[in-house]
Order: sequence, then C-alpha cells, then structure tokens
Amino acid sequence: MCGIVGYIGPREATEIVVGGLQRLEYRGYDSAGVAIYDPAAGLQLRRSIGKLGNLLQRIGREPTVGCLGLGHTRWATHGGVTEENAHPHRDASGSIVVIQNGIVENYLELKANMLADGHHFVSQTDTEVIAHLVGHYYQRTGSLEAAVRQAVAELRGGNALVALCIHEPDRLVAARLGNAGGVVIGLGAGETFVASDVPAILDHTRSLLFLEDHELAVITREGAQLSKLDGTPVSRQPVTMSWDPVAAARGDFKHFMQKEIHEQPRALTDVLRGRIDQDAGSVHLEDLRLDDAALRQVGRIYATACGTAWHAALVAKFMIESLARVRVEVDYASEFRYREPVLGADALLLAFTQSGETVDTLAAMEEARNQGVPSIAIVNAIGSQAARVADGGPLYLHAGPEIGVASTKAFTSMLVAAYLFALRLGQARGTLTAAQIRIALQALVELPGKAATVIERAVPVCEALAERYHRVSNALFLGRQANYPIALEGALKLKEISYIHAEGYPAGEMKHGPIALIDEDLPVICIAPRDHIYAKMLSNIEQVRARHGQVLAIGTDGDDQLAAKADRVILVPATIPLLQPVLTVIPLQIFAYAMALRRGCDVDQPRNLAKSVTVE
Ligand code: F6R
Repeated sequence: MCGIVGYIGPREATEIVVGGLQRLEYRGYDSAGVAIYDPAAGLQLRRSIGKLGNLLQRIGREPTVGCLGLGHTRWATHGGVTEENAHPHRDASGSIVVIQNGIVENYLELKANMLADGHHFVSQTDTEVIAHLVGHYYQRTGSLEAAVRQAVAELRGGNALVALCIHEPDRLVAARLGNAGGVVIGLGAGETFVASDVPAILDHTRSLLFLEDHELAVITREGAQLSKLDGTPVSRQPVTMSWDPVAAARGDFKHFMQKEIHEQPRALTDVLRGRIDQDAGSVHLEDLRLDDAALRQVGRIYATACGTAWHAALVAKFMIESLARVRVEVDYASEFRYREPVLGADALLLAFTQSGETVDTLAAMEEARNQGVPSIAIVNAIGSQAARVADGGPLYLHAGPEIGVASTKAFTSMLVAAYLFALRLGQARGTLTAAQIRIALQALVELPGKAATVIERAVPVCEALAERYHRVSNALFLGRQANYPIALEGALKLKEISYIHAEGYPAGEMKHGPIALIDEDLPVICIAPRDHIYAKMLSNIEQVRARHGQVLAIGTDGDDQLAAKADRVILVPATIPLLQPVLTVIPLQIFAYAMALRRGCDVDQPRNLAKSVTVE
C-alpha cells in the first residue's frame, strides 16, 4: 500500500526520489518522507504528514543534497498519522534509515525484547522496530547486507523494505518477504533505482529487475546483486518494460479517474489487439500456458479477487458458464484463502487483479498452487507478482497504468479479457462454433466505439444529476443477472469517492428488505437493459415508483418505455447481453465521479484508501 523509492548514482537523489513518490502517491497519502545522504551534509531526514505537497514545501524550506537517498509515502497501518510515524525510520545510532511497505506481524514481541535491551522508540510503527533490528545486527556484523539479512529473518508477515547506512554510502539494501509488496530495481547507466512500483522509475529506465519473495538485493551505482535471504546467489536477467511514462501522466484531465474513464475506448481496443481472428472465428491468448487439451480438462473454475476486481469475477461467471459450460465459483480472495477450499484435480483458478500485488489475491493463488491447481491471472500491471506466479500464464489487460484509486478502465478491460477467456475456453471445449465466435468477435470490435458514445452521452447527464442529488446520504443500485455485479460496482464507486452510503442489490431481492429504505429522498439507480429479464426489472422499477423513490435508469437505445417510467434515464447502445455490463457500468463511473466532484471530494485520493492493497 505504501510507496517506496530509492536512488544511488551521480545525480541529486532528492529530485529523483520525490519525482518517484509523486508517481506513487496513489498508494498512500497519510504522510511522506525522504532521507538523503551526502558525505559533507550528512544524513538529512524530512518528513511531513498529509499529502506529498506538504513534504515538498518542507524540502523547499529545508533543502536536501546528496546522491544517495530513499523516500516513502505512507498508508498508515501501525500508529496514527503523525510526523513521528512517517517513514523513513532510524535505528538507535541514527546512522541507518529504513522504509517499509507491509506489516510486521510480530512487531510487538520484537519491540518488547528491544525495549528490555534498552532501545528507545520514538514512533508507534512496526518499521522503526525493523530499523532498530537492522541497527542491532549492524553493530555485530559491520555489514548492512548482513544486518538486513539477519533482521528480516526475525520478521513475520509480509514486507518490502529498503535500508541505507551512512557508513556504506555506496549501496542501498532492499529485501522482500512474502507477498505484501513488490520491489522493482531499475538499472540505469551508472545509476540504479529501486521502488515498490514500476511507474516510479519509468522516467529513468525501462530495464527492470523484480525481486521475488525471500530475496535481497544489494543496490549500487553499477546495478544490483540478488540473493536469497539465506545467502544463495540469484541470477536474473532484467526485463524491458514497454509502458509509456507519458501514459501515466494526467495530461489535460482534472483527475486520473476522469482520464481513465475517457481512456476506456482505447483500453477496450488494446485488450483485443492481436488476440482475435474474425475470419477464422477464433481467439488466441498469447501468454496462456494451457493448451486445448489442458483447457478441455478443466471441470470447474474458482474466480477470486477483491473489490472492483471481484465484481469483474462475478460477471465472468456468467460469461464462462454460458459460453464454455464450465461451472464457476466466485470468492473474495480474503475469504477463499482462509476457508480451506476443496479445489479438486480438474480445477483452475482465475485471479482478477489490476495491480497484481493485492496480498489476498496472491495468497489465494498460492493456496491453489499448494493444491496443485493451475492459476491464470487476469492482470494489468506488467511483470507484477500475480503475472509472474500465474503458472497458467497471465492474461494481460494492456490497459496502461491505472493511477486513480477508483478502478475504472481496468474493470471494463477485465470484463473483456474474461469474455475473451470464456470464448477461448468454449473454442477448446467445442461448446462454441466458429460462427458463434465470429458473432461474439463482431460485438467485441464494436464495443470501443459504443463505449465512446456512452461517455459522450453520460457526462452531461451525470453532471446534471450530481447537481440535483449531491446532497443525498444514501443510494440504492439495482440490477439483475450479469448487471447485478454492475449494481455492486456502481455502489462501490459512489461510496469510495463521494462518501455517500450506497448499496448494490439484485433487483429481485429488493422486496426482501431494502424496499423499507425507499422514500422520496432515495435515488434508486436501476440497470435495465433490454434482455431476457427486462420485464422483471420494469416491475421492480414500478415497485420503487410506488414508494416514491427517485428512479435513475440505465437502459438500452430506443427504450421509450423505460424513459417514460424513470425520473432520469441514460440510454447506452445495445450489444450482446454478456457484454452489456461493459457499457452499463460506464455511466455509473461517471455518475460517481460527478457526484464526488460536486461534493468537493478528492477523487483520485479518497480518504483512507490506497491503490494497491498489500496488507490484510
Ligand atoms: C475500487 C478498487 C478496489 C480494487 C481492489 C483490488 O475502485 O479499485 O476495490 O479493485 O483493491 O485491487 P487489484 O485489482 O489491484 O487486485
């Protein structure tokens, strides 16, 4: 969740570290800090609570110099949001600093032992305990590398950390334990970068080394030496990243979320690129390591994810069951990992994750691996942990970096990727003919254009809706079948960025409880495309109207009947029913964005949230 950046080279570290943190602020924005070292100026620590801007002002007033440094943006886990709790943290001697992403599960025990040994702590964080532990072992070994190795051996939980010692100004030492956070090392010419995420260093280099679980790196100007935590050397070739750093910049848009909503037509094109053959009526998923024979063996699928990605998994169930006739069970990854699932020899795990670093999703993949079940990651972040551990292969979204904390383009791209996977599975299993696939592919290629139409139409309507409804305290979202997860997603989007309480419900369930909430103040957002349960949705809308609820409907083009029943309606182009959620969700994203904007909320950095959830 927290963002980490480090630099060693000939240039001023402050600029590079702060620039990297700016790219990572979406990961956490409770506080931020840097530690920069220069032989003449010594170790300079600057920390501030609140957003990165505060730290920048602080550095403006008290500049730092030096070509070795590290920085951190924090999403608070242990200890409140105070300057003392901001990273970097120092050891007892003040010569070692540490930044960390993750949680030290046994930190109270470690802290108690160190307090008994006379250590004094100035923060409530688990990271300060790591710094003291590294300092303790440094006293004994005189080597930062050895000290980090020994300190990490005592930690329980999942962590990614970077340490700097003023007595060894030619290096940084990074370590990764578990799945709580990634560490990527960027190799430059005579300079080396380290970060929790790729966008932090893409401005400087595309040549990247990813640290795996239980590995350590000694980072110097010349590059990085990798080893296992037990000291065994690791040899790994760098990978070259193709992401364009410009794509990670906000451009003319007011917010990343707004930019990413508008990027959806492009993202929906990119997810298809090179994967479909309309003439032959076939789908080819380049990175999938399961061939036709293996796909035919699949008897059941477990789809797992968190948050918005879990909603994508819920829609995927409809797609896969309908097109490939394979039964799908959908689980929250945080539940799946602890419920001792009985997977079976014919099972396949599908993990949905934008970041590829969500700790619960990674743990679910590990559970599958332990049971001998292959997994496929439907993932956006190239080279992320999920992409690397998916033994069935990653199915990349190719949506480009998603920076806004509220996921938008990754969600719609996940739906299309899941649909492609369902077609591929149906193709291998013979549940679909080439002619049927051809019809599906035609619908897919028309989707980006239709998404653009939806955006164009929905923006002005949602601005007007926000004007009318921005003061409400509650909202209800209703949908059925594959649009029920879209109701959940609409509610989640509204909650997370506008702080309005919202619930998503299967429309048929409304009368079993939530109907009691309906009065003239409650907006009820009804997703009612013309599909096989359209008539049922209309009855539900009547039930809302009978109780004076405000009906805001999402329907399909030409639906005058719906327009007549609803207080406000947004019509989206029709597509085949399994793809309709890709289009019905877009107005809900735009609605949430407009509401949040009208309420003066911080759209890209909503309170308490972070982009990659690398803690439990
Ligand atoms: C909501 C949102 C989150 C993420 C969830 C999983 O807008 O973005 O609910 O979907 O934290 O993240 P990933 O997809 O990175 O595993």
